[in-house]
Amino acid sequence: MTSDKLPSQITTSSPEETQALGRRLSAFLAPGDVACFWGDLGAGKTCLIQGICGALGVNEPVVSPSFTLVNEYSGQVKVAHLDFYRLRDAAEVEQLGFDELLDGSRIVLIEWPERVKSRLPSERLDVHMAWDSDLKRNIMFKSNMMKWQQLIDK
Ligand SMILES: Nc1ncnc2c1ncn2[C@@H]1O[C@H](COP(=O)(O)OP(=O)(O)O)[C@@H](O)[C@H]1O
Ligand SMILES: [Mg+2]
Repeated sequence: MTSDKLPSQITTSSPEETQALGRRLSAFLAPGDVACFWGDLGAGKTCLIQGICGALGVNEPVVSPSFTLVNEYSGQVKVAHLDFYRLRDAAEVEQLGFDELLDGSRIVLIEWPERVKSRLPSERLDVHMAWDSDLKRNIMFKSNMMKWQQLIDK
């Protein structure tokens, strides 16, 4: 596995390994990029995002914005961290200004993207995460964008 690419599939064996993977992913992220994190509760979505944000110079604690739906961070770049687990209806998506968050000025990281499936930009990175055992998580990277396809190891 080369460090200048992302694995198409990887199993991490601890939260620290998942965060380290997030740090690697962060190197490829720039404002305008949208990454969706699919997977059940406890799959490690927030853990991976903590690694990403830490490497981007976000100093505040990174936790799932379960009730507020969005956390905005400023590190070296602006980051919007969304969690749609508790989304009640489409109006809430409007209220939080989802479209403005996608205006290209920030990196947008979305937990529970299935809740807003019809509104997701088609140009995005998809990260699929699944519980494997107590400390193991299976993580897959997929995208229909050329940029990401070139960065994902076959
Ligand atoms: N390999 C691993 N990667 C990520 N988290 C792990 C791993 N092994 C155990 N865990 C634990 O699983 C939980 C993942 O929680 P979290 O990242 O909040 O998940 P999600 O945001 O998907 O609901 C944490 O308690 C973490 O310590
Ligand atoms: Mg979470």
